[in-house]
Amino acid sequence: MSGALFAGLMSGTSLDGVDAVLVDFSADPPAILGHVHRAFPDPLRAELLALQASGADELHRGALCANALSRAYAGAIDALLVAAAVAPAALRAIGCHGQTVRHRPDAGYSIQLCNPALLAELTGVRVVADFRSRDVAAGGQGAPLAPAFHAVALRAPDEDRAILNLGGIANLTLLRAHAPVTGFDSGPGNCLLDLWAQRHLGAPMDENGAWAAGAAPDAGLLESFLSDAYFRRPPPKSTGRDLFNEAWLLRHVAPSRDPRVVQSTLLELTARSVADAHRAHCASAQRLIVCGGGVRNARLMQRLSALLAPLPVESSERHGIDPALVEATAFAWLARQALAAAPGNLPSVTGARGPRVLGAIYPP
Ligand SMILES: Nc1ncnc2c1ncn2[C@@H]1O[C@H](COP(=O)(O)OP(=O)(O)O)[C@@H](O)[C@H]1O
Ligand SMILES: [Mg+2]
Repeated sequence: MSGALFAGLMSGTSLDGVDAVLVDFSADPPAILGHVHRAFPDPLRAELLALQASGADELHRGALCANALSRAYAGAIDALLVAAAVAPAALRAIGCHGQTVRHRPDAGYSIQLCNPALLAELTGVRVVADFRSRDVAAGGQGAPLAPAFHAVALRAPDEDRAILNLGGIANLTLLRAHAPVTGFDSGPGNCLLDLWAQRHLGAPMDENGAWAAGAAPDAGLLESFLSDAYFRRPPPKSTGRDLFNEAWLLRHVAPSRDPRVVQSTLLELTARSVADAHRAHCASAQRLIVCGGGVRNARLMQRLSALLAPLPVESSERHGIDPALVEATAFAWLARQALAAAPGNLPSVTGARGPRVLGAIYPP
């Protein structure tokens, strides 16, 4: 086990909080030794949300927010190590994604808030951070990055498989038995569902899609959502709250709409855009393996299964990996790649000019 212990920290577009995992890469498959989820305190979540759009004094606010975030990350790492009875010195590194506040590969950058120096200082552990910039510098999307790890954890020698991550944004990976891995963001996952639930239920999510399930989706509104050019763009492609945000939603939704019908239509939008993208780009897959928080939205999983029938649509749990932990584990793996000076990106996914070692290393 010595030298093979890494932690992964993931806080995604959903802004629900941070997942920390402890992974032993000396085991095959890698063993997840512990997991901590910490919800963001409300003021931190509110500021992270506010920083998704340009505003007054945003450089200063961004820096303060990165510090607060790094303290929350350090708290999650402390709790993780205490629960697993592992000393900080036993960890090779923490792979920290940071919090995306701008994703603009078209303009040559992708910004994840984080203060890796502070995180290294607070934990006493080496930190690897800023995984996306190098891929963007090499002409890539800088996203999605999880497909390389999906290939390590979930590829099968005898069948083609698609992996769906239902985070704030949804991304699909096609793992073919005998061909390069492909993958891309299909569009919104949970982010618009959460946003609308917050607005109309005052809750961070529509638990299990129960509110959405009480109304039928509106066909006209669904077509309006699906008319966005993003859905027709061929891969490589990636997106975020830069596009799929409240302003986008309100451009399509008339104020007189029944909010419950809107929620139901947003759920259908996630399911339809994934199903359409799967048919267009992952047709050879013999099953769809789903991870991310959206797996717990029973209604969403039901709609996905119905739209893709008879394709088996199943949680990654069935393949030995907790769906909530796949992304954080991917960043532990990316940190390990960085320390080994091995590439972390897949040019067949991101469109980068070539394989690149991703991340900047902050010594303990
Ligand atoms: N029981 C549930 N019912 C509906 N949605 C859920 C449930 N549990 C989690 N989710 C969704 O999953 C999201 C978190 O997923 P996650 O994979 O952490 O996304 P991200 O990587 O963007 O942070 C929540 O914001 C919520 O939308
Ligand atoms: Mg999350």
